[in-house]
Amino acid sequence: MSGRFITLEGGEGAGKSSNLEWLAEALREAGVAVTVSREPGGTELAERIRQVLLEPGAEPMADATELLLVFAARAQHLAARIRPALARGEWVLCDRFIDATWAYQGAGRGLARADIAALETLVLKGLTPDRTLLFDVPVDIGLARAGKRSEPDRIEREQRDFFERVRQCYLQRAAAEPQRFRVIDAGQELPGVRAQLRASLEEMLTWR
Ligand SMILES: Nc1ncnc2c1ncn2[C@@H]1O[C@H](COP(=O)(O)OP(=O)(O)OP(=O)(O)O)[C@@H](O)[C@H]1O
Ligand SMILES: [Mg+2]
Repeated sequence: MSGRFITLEGGEGAGKSSNLEWLAEALREAGVAVTVSREPGGTELAERIRQVLLEPGAEPMADATELLLVFAARAQHLAARIRPALARGEWVLCDRFIDATWAYQGAGRGLARADIAALETLVLKGLTPDRTLLFDVPVDIGLARAGKRSEPDRIEREQRDFFERVRQCYLQRAAAEPQRFRVIDAGQELPGVRAQLRASLEEMLTWR
């Protein structure tokens, strides 16, 4: 038995978290067993790594430290939560995953592709999401939404061009893997976003 792995990606304030539970509930109504999680985090230990990653601190975090912590949290999440849920036949809905690393640590920080690829091989061992919903929103709109929500975390304190590189990387990845990605125009009002998600949901329900 093997479940399905669905990831939600996109920049700050795009609406991933706002739509995660709605998607999970819609799947449950259709009779699917769903596990909802997020990255970095998703287990007790991985959530502790998340805190280290996101809390602003006096000591600047080296880019390689950030990359290794992201993958350390992911290794734990995969071992303790995602792989067991998939093995039970559940559908895992995850708020951010590997594409976020390519976008933030790769395009955003400028870390070497070969380094990210090596860690991806080590940690994912070939696991790829079955579907990735990319919430795409212009950077200024996303940042304005996120700014209204809460104080900026360590990564949200980056400059605007950082987030522009993140957005463009996500869009490039979606264009390169159209069979895995569905791009949601997340700049629309919530009802418009939900209509697009509904269409993706119907498509995924044909997998059963
Ligand atoms: N389509 C929308 N129109 C207007 N506001 C929205 C829309 N979707 C989400 N929001 C609001 O924008 C804010 C950010 O949304 P949310 O937290 O879901 O984004 P996110 O993608 O999870 O961001 P982050 O990556 O920072 O966690 C929230 O206050 C949410 O209510
Ligand atoms: Mg969120």
